[in-house]
Order: sequence, then C-alpha cells, then structure tokens
Amino acid sequence: MAISLSGIKPTGKLTLGNYIGALRNFKAMQEDYENFIFIADLHALTLPIDPIELKTNTLDIVAFYLAAGLDPEKTTIFLQSDVSEHSELNSIIQNYLYMGELSRMTQFKDKSRKLNDSAIGLGLFAYPALMCADIILYNADIVPVGEDQKQHVELCRNLVHRFNTRYGKEIFKMPEPVIPKVGARIMSLSDPTKKMSKSDPKGDIFLKDDLNIIRKKIMSAVTDTGNEILFDKENKPGISNLLTIYSALKNKTIEESVQEFSNLHQYGEFKKMVANAVLDELGPFQTRYKEIISNRKYINEVLEKGAIRAKKIAHKTLIKVKKTVGLYVHE
Ligand code: TYM
Repeated sequence: MAISLSGIKPTGKLTLGNYIGALRNFKAMQEDYENFIFIADLHALTLPIDPIELKTNTLDIVAFYLAAGLDPEKTTIFLQSDVSEHSELNSIIQNYLYMGELSRMTQFKDKSRKLNDSAIGLGLFAYPALMCADIILYNADIVPVGEDQKQHVELCRNLVHRFNTRYGKEIFKMPEPVIPKVGARIMSLSDPTKKMSKSDPKGDIFLKDDLNIIRKKIMSAVTDTGNEILFDKENKPGISNLLTIYSALKNKTIEESVQEFSNLHQYGEFKKMVANAVLDELGPFQTRYKEIISNRKYINEVLEKGAIRAKKIAHKTLIKVKKTVGLYVHE
C-alpha cells in the first residue's frame, strides 16, 4: 500500500483554510493509503509561543483530526515530539541542504521579514530540513498539503534526489505533494488578496468560532463592486474566494458553482448560501470536536498507540540512513 503523510503545526487557531486545504483531505487518504498524520509540535517552536497555548493547540489538533473522521485504527496519529527519530534524522539531513536554497523559501522570507535579524531563530531558517525528515522517515509517496507548503515538499524532493545520487541507491522514496484542485489557497475574508492564516486573525474563520460569528464573518466578507457571481481572482478576489470555499465544501468544480449561481445577481443571497455550506460542515464537526476534547483519556490513548506505531517505522529508516552515511550501528 502506498504511503500518505501530512501534519499541522499547533500555532494559533486552526482556520477554515487549514480545514479545506488540508484537514478534510486527510480522511480521504486513510481508505487508499497507509496514512500517517501528525502534529508538528517541534515546528511550533520555530517562532515564540506561549507554553500553555502550545499545549492547548496540540490537544485541539488531535481532537480536530478525530472530529474530521480520522480513524486511529486506520491512520497513525502522533506527536512529532514523541518520535525522537524526527530530530535525529533532521540532524543528519540538514547537512545535505544548503543555506542558499533555504534562504529562498517563501515562508522563511515572509516570517523573518516581520522579525529583527537578531530575533530570527535558527529553527525558523532550518524549518524545511525537519519537515523533510518528517516526510522521508515514513517513506511517504504522497504529501497532501495546501499550496503554501508545496515549496517545502519540492525542496525535500531535491534533497531526496541529492541524497540518493550521492549514495548511489534509492535510500529515500521520492515524495509527491498533493494539492487540492479547489481550495489549495483559501484567502482572508477581510482582505481576499491575502492568505487566510492562523497567525493573522483578521478575516479568518476559526474552526472553533461560534456558528453565529462564522455566519456574520461570511456575510460581511469583503466583496467587489458589481453583482455577478463570477470566478475572476484578479478582478473579483472576494467573490472568487467565496466560490472556492463553497465549491470545496460541496465537492463541486468552480464551473459547476458558477453555473449554479448564474441567475443570482445578489451578493447577499450568495453569501447566505456560502454561510449555509460552511455551517453545514462545521456544525457537526464542532459537535464531534467538543465530545472528543473533553475525553483526555481517549486522546492520550490515541497518541500513545500512534507514537508506538510511528516509532517502529521511523526507527527502521533512521538505522538505514545511519548505515548509509557510515555512522557505526552496533546491533
Ligand atoms: P500549517 O500548520 O501552516 O498548515 C497546515 C496545512 O494547512 C494548509 N493551509 C491552507 N490551505 C489552504 N488555504 C489556506 N489559507 C491555508 N493555510 C494553511 C497548509 O498548506 C498545510 O497543508 N509545515 C507544515 C506542517 C508540517 C508538514 C510536515 C506538512 C510539518 N512537517 C510534513 C506535511 C508534511 C505547516 O506549517 O503547515
């Protein structure tokens, strides 16, 4: 069975962007792939974060995974920090990634721009090395992510090629990023030219928001002049974003949704339909989340079992890499 792997970083509150671009797609993978889904908690340390917030966010993501339908019998759900092989492999492969390519990463440029030079942590710069370790430890064939993570997966592909070429064999499998056709980049509702992001609360729909607030946020989403529901990212970014959200949640193509709204010349009515689609999805999701988050024992069991399963595979890979590069393994 081919292997799928992905993760979410427990920084900030998860948004509808995370849900559409990543979370909801993880469940589909568990039927056809051996599925590894983790919480990238070590990655959360790459920018300053309050310890209590980190812990709360971590538990929330486990509950979100389960609420989104991940079945711990089919999907290995685990914490990155529970499997020390992530850090160990990171310290080996970081030697095969170069400063030049790391400094060209869009996410690094965006995040470091907001900081003083003296406050940019080494971990932020080296972020993609750990992410690559996450992927290759499990020999992932595919990595389902939103558009913003594609560049990191591509860097990992370069590393795999470099490493395999250097040691003359297929040590690592070549991972393929899988980006959703609709919803790979959900934009902010208050500024549809910017990505909806958990680190920028304006205009975002958070997965834990009260349903009435979500409706209000959608009804007051920034749109454009005119009254036609058309997909035109350049001239109608707000309407295009709402069309994307609607289509993704209804499993429709953009063309099908445009067709559906072709006789509707009212943004207000359109927004109502989008809000209904979001509430239909997030209502039951929130109910499941609330049930799961109050059951810490269950969450701990899931993580415990996941860590054991993940570690078994990760350890095998680590040993193989150690031997390959010439680190002496005494068995
Ligand atoms: P993170 O936590 O920033 O985001 C989690 C996932 O959500 C997607 N996403 C979006 N998709 C559509 N529209 C948006 N507005 C939007 N915002 C976020 C992201 O693309 C991502 O898929 N580096 C990763 C975590 C990670 C990882 C990995 C992922 C660590 N190691 C290995 C895959 C494989 C991250 O910070 O994602």
